Amino acid sequence: MGSSPTPSALLLVSQIVITINRMKILSIETSCDETAISIIEAYGDYEDFQCKVIANELLSQATLHTQYGGVFPTLAKREHAKNLPQLLQKALANSEIISHESQPANDLSKQKLKIIKNILEREPELYLQLSVLLSQITKPDIDPVRSKTQKAPADFVNRTSNGVDAIAITNGPGLAPALWVGVNFARALSVAWELPIVPVNHMEGHVFSAMLKKSDPKNYHLSHINFPALALLISGGHTELVLMKDWSSYELLGATRDDAVGEAFDKVARLLGLNYPGGPEISKLATKARKKNLSDASFVLPRPMIHTDDYNFSFSGLKTAVLTLVKKLGELSENQKQQIAREFEDAVADVFTTKVSKAISDTGAQTLLIGGGVSANTYINNRISKLIKKEYGGVSLHIPNKELTGDNALMIAVAGYFNIKANKFVKQDNLTAEANLTLY
Ligand code: KG4
Ligand code: ZN
Repeated sequence: MGSSPTPSALLLVSQIVITINRMKILSIETSCDETAISIIEAYGDYEDFQCKVIANELLSQATLHTQYGGVFPTLAKREHAKNLPQLLQKALANSEIISHESQPANDLSKQKLKIIKNILEREPELYLQLSVLLSQITKPDIDPVRSKTQKAPADFVNRTSNGVDAIAITNGPGLAPALWVGVNFARALSVAWELPIVPVNHMEGHVFSAMLKKSDPKNYHLSHINFPALALLISGGHTELVLMKDWSSYELLGATRDDAVGEAFDKVARLLGLNYPGGPEISKLATKARKKNLSDASFVLPRPMIHTDDYNFSFSGLKTAVLTLVKKLGELSENQKQQIAREFEDAVADVFTTKVSKAISDTGAQTLLIGGGVSANTYINNRISKLIKKEYGGVSLHIPNKELTGDNALMIAVAGYFNIKANKFVKQDNLTAEANLTLY
């Protein structure tokens, strides 16, 4: 299409990229209500992977969605469109990657702008902002002034490029309108800067978030993983138990039949008059109840599907049970809210520990990874951790660092890095958002 990189040019760019020892990746995440952009420099294979975080920017829309008790897709789309150019500018400005703000862009032809306008025809505001930004900066590259004053590290010798080598973009699963903004933004940048794109599965990002460990404040590596590994993926949109036989094979063992666990936390929070996102709010109340040792048999909630002979989950009945209880009790006192929160969190933890235990026994898994927004829940993590210590001493448990539990662009960059190594590039004009994308 027009002057966008031709398939052979893209292929050529892809081939160049995978021959580089170190890669700089710009990643974009807009699947739900977090807009995030990161730039990493990565190298190595799974066993010796290292990455330096050059920039990691995030804007959460959570407070805007509070009045809806959950994420409102059209609002999310509008906010992503507003946030993306801002975050990109910030990511470039905060990094060692130059933004030539004083120089007029000389590499953005009228033809490229026309293609970009076409790509962003459903996001006219984004097109306006991005075209201004693109006229102020050129393709991100290492600041030549700074690099002159610094001795080039030996492993830079083989580089064919000093700047960003590829774009990694979350193309699913998630809310379609939200995903499309990010996908189209990535396509536009790919045209402007002639960079190849790799799509990234958001859930694979969460899998990597569990394995990412900080070497120091700016550098991460991956934990050593023994296979088979189980991944318990628990977020606002997903609740899945996935078996990994190796780094790139995913088999779905079970999933929720109805609501995702994070969605249940959010809905129950709403029933208790708490703000979105509900997970942290419920958790705070539950902790208070435990501290006060509040207990009352009238607060017992069901543990749906806990004893079924499979790895599936169900959380909508649990939420309905809370609704019934709340209706019966009428206006809730603080203590009652705390007790319901505790019972709800206990019910979820009971279900997860039971299903995880069954899955480890049945599969002989040697590793358990927990990922997704609900992996920020300390109580659930502690319960699973106790189970592993007590019953499965040989299994290693990996929980994301706090800053990587929720949606973020760093995990997308890392998953993208391995997609680049596996040559999973997609031509920008073939790239689509896939709301129901799966891992398996
Ligand atoms: O992974 P994530 O940020 O977005 C999706 O991909 O869905 O997950 C968001 C979900 C929300 O439902 C939120 O309530 C839940 O994660 N969450 C928690 C906690 N922190 C966030 N749930 C339970 N306990 C928490 N501490
Ligand atoms: Zn997520």
